[in-house]
Amino acid sequence: MSTLSVFGAQWGDEGKGKIIDLLARDADIVVRCQGGANAGHTVVVGEQRFVLHHLPSGILHPGTVNVVGNGVAVDPLVLFDEIDGLAERGVSVTSDSLRVAAGAHVIFEHHKRIDRYAERWRGVGRIGTTGRGIGPCYADKAARTGLRVADLVEPVRFEERIRAALAEKNALFEKVYGEEAMAPGEVFDRYAAIAQRLAPFVADTGEEVRSAYKEGKRILFEGAQGAMLDLDHGTYPFVTSSNTGIASIGSGGGFPPTKLERVQGIAKAYCTRVGEGPFPSEDSGALGECLRDRGNEYGATTGRPRRCGWIDLVALRFALELNGATGWVMTNLDVLSGFDGIPVCTGYDYPSRGDREPSVYPGHLAGLDGVSPVLETRPGWSEDITGVRHFKDLPQAARDYVHWIEEKVGVPIELLSVGPERDQVIFLRTALEAAT
Ligand code: IMP
Repeated sequence: MSTLSVFGAQWGDEGKGKIIDLLARDADIVVRCQGGANAGHTVVVGEQRFVLHHLPSGILHPGTVNVVGNGVAVDPLVLFDEIDGLAERGVSVTSDSLRVAAGAHVIFEHHKRIDRYAERWRGVGRIGTTGRGIGPCYADKAARTGLRVADLVEPVRFEERIRAALAEKNALFEKVYGEEAMAPGEVFDRYAAIAQRLAPFVADTGEEVRSAYKEGKRILFEGAQGAMLDLDHGTYPFVTSSNTGIASIGSGGGFPPTKLERVQGIAKAYCTRVGEGPFPSEDSGALGECLRDRGNEYGATTGRPRRCGWIDLVALRFALELNGATGWVMTNLDVLSGFDGIPVCTGYDYPSRGDREPSVYPGHLAGLDGVSPVLETRPGWSEDITGVRHFKDLPQAARDYVHWIEEKVGVPIELLSVGPERDQVIFLRTALEAAT
């Protein structure tokens, strides 16, 4: 039996899509437990580039069961756009390959509107959300006013619940935001049509995943976003609205985290962030721009340019420790080719406090106020490494960079990624194999 959880160990966009797609070859089931269409997992297969927002990245592997767990905020419109887009490219999604939790909450158009309006009201405190309705959907879940997939596919219940929900939201639109109300009948018709398509996919996914585990199936849990965007442990309030690490596997997957055998973090060889919020190792100068150009650092979901900077060992150690990572994957190492020297953030400086705490990540936002990074520059290399498949064939400086970081972080690196394609990897250890 084997279970593996993969999570983003930075601020999202670590290259999880490619790694999960690679690991999914050896998995029977791939499970998403949190987030929604705010994710953007890019997978390159030969000439084709797939960007998955909603579907688990195992969907490109025939025979794999893909689960959208109860902790995911399901946007049925985006889900079926994605399913139809895949069908046009020859990938068929059936109720054998996709299971959607009856208990997952549904994102409606009104959630997306609230997401946009609320951002306007936040002014300088704006979060820079993806605008996909994630926060407002999870807010309704916590307020117990949300609708779940099981409500959506039951027409009588759906009509009753959506009317009640819109009565409240329309008052908000008109009286607070000064915007137009939504017509309940139109909303019902639009979503009732998609509900018919969704119905065959709906299941008690937690039960299915636990049963599969008992049968000895190999299960891969696919994290979305990143540990530093975690609702509780990230840079709140500049975070997403779900728990982005292994905690979501119990709550959003219905699977006991005690049965996880391996936990793998994914981190770039440098670091990026989209949206607002602290980013201590950000390089807003020419080198940061160079990282953006070479790494094509533009959001897969929103197309926004990503903020770029250097790998932050303080935040990375925190993310790996928080999630009990047994190993990690370093992605985009190839993007660092051509830098004379590569800065690495080894600590944080608090000039105002005359204080330096190199290894401790502050547990709250105020702890990052006025922080500046302590940077140590490592030797760079000039060679193109995208064709390298064995660690020993990397330039000496690249090997030293990897070893040095691994030692500083204290968690083994299991895989290196040296390009966007499936085969552009250097195996140091295969996680699912190691778990078997
Ligand atoms: P939301 O998840 O759309 O509410 O956005 C909240 C914050 O999380 C914003 O800073 C987003 O840019 C960020 N975010 C959400 N999803 C992702 C992701 O998949 N990758 C990177 N950043 C994300």
